[in-house]
Amino acid sequence: MSKYVISGGNKLYGSVKAQSAKNALLPLISACIMIEGEVTFTNSSMLGDVSIMLSIIKSLGGNYTYSNGNLKVDCTNLYSSEMPCDLTRKIRASVFMLGPLLARFKNVVTYLPGGCQIGSRPIDMHLDGFKALGVKEFNDGDALILKSKKLRGTKIKLKYASVGVTENLIMCAVLSEGETVLLNSAKEPEIVCLVKFLRLFGAKIKGEGTSTIVIEGVKKLKSKNITFMPISDRIEVGTYILSVLGTGGEIEVENANFLHNVALIKKIYNNACKIILTNDKIYIKCVGIGKSLSYTRTAPYPKFPTDLQTPLCAYATTLNGTSYVEESVFDNRFMQLKELERMGAKISVNGNVSKIEGVNELVGTAVTALDLRGGASLIIAGLKASGQTVIDNAQIIERGYLDIEKKLSLLGADIKKV
Ligand code: UD1
Repeated sequence: MSKYVISGGNKLYGSVKAQSAKNALLPLISACIMIEGEVTFTNSSMLGDVSIMLSIIKSLGGNYTYSNGNLKVDCTNLYSSEMPCDLTRKIRASVFMLGPLLARFKNVVTYLPGGCQIGSRPIDMHLDGFKALGVKEFNDGDALILKSKKLRGTKIKLKYASVGVTENLIMCAVLSEGETVLLNSAKEPEIVCLVKFLRLFGAKIKGEGTSTIVIEGVKKLKSKNITFMPISDRIEVGTYILSVLGTGGEIEVENANFLHNVALIKKIYNNACKIILTNDKIYIKCVGIGKSLSYTRTAPYPKFPTDLQTPLCAYATTLNGTSYVEESVFDNRFMQLKELERMGAKISVNGNVSKIEGVNELVGTAVTALDLRGGASLIIAGLKASGQTVIDNAQIIERGYLDIEKKLSLLGADIKKV
């Protein structure tokens, strides 16, 4: 168990570099299951979730090494498709391995995935998609067994534009026979990144980044060793932007593609800050306290990301006026707001809409991180609060942010991990 101890009030100045996106790296690691050869992912972070995914890869017979941001994954000799129960249950992203394992072995033994408790998070759409491709599902006690004699492409309309389902079905369809058409696909940049990667091995995919993705199955992906840099982490970038907006100061976020953060930038643009956007950097200078936000509703990309919802709420707690934030993606993603209230925030929740009335200041106290992004919102609040904030259960934040306390310290924050 670790804690972050923050003495709030320091303005942030300087430059910080974003890591490669956790949500890009996790499906990329899964995709390696279908590849014979060594893949090197550069600028990668050994985040908590990444390390669990890699342990699953190892337990199936694959291999990996990590040094200085270079993650090498080699699944050439992968021999098993029986996922280990304890590790599989630890992270939601273990479900991303089902598509590639089915593509390679035609059968998988797995268990329901875990992850942040931000809603019911079923996997019905993943399973329905696999079934449409010719997979049969059986239950054996806690285990879920997926089997197929032959994977056949077909037309699949997703009932919701789910990121993980789109990624899983693309990966499964890449080695299915014939054409698969995914309708109502998600459009997140992490999906585009995955498709670019798969294409390097001869996968035939069109339409990524739009709602219709067409995959022409191939017999086998090409065997080769390659080096690939995943896209930068737009949620980490957004977290730094919302941090400095709370504390005041002037920072530059490097390795940041502003095109992936348009919804956030539009929301904060001209709100007591000056923003300069260049190819791979976002510069932001604060000039006072902003006014309340326009109505925010989280929704699939390119709309406002659910992963920045609680960080945005933390930012709104000290704006001038009342902001409303609606969560439409997950059904239980407001629980962290109670902890913000303990720091003096004035928040009321009605169904899936939170009303945040700006207060003059937050006051540091002992709080608990309940999920990854909720934990990040407590850091944002702690950095601008008066006095000391102690965030318990901080390891949940490390699942998605590498060295966040070190990066913020370099910007001038008084934050320590104990
Ligand atoms: C991914 C991200 C996560 C982000 C989320 C939404 C990764 C590793 N994680 O998660 O950080 O918060 O997208 O942007 O990329 N759903 C079903 N049935 C299913 C699958 C999903 O009902 O079979 C529902 C979910 O409960 C949720 C909604 O669909 O309400 C969206 O979830 P989804 O896009 O699938 O999220 P993930 O891919 O799990």
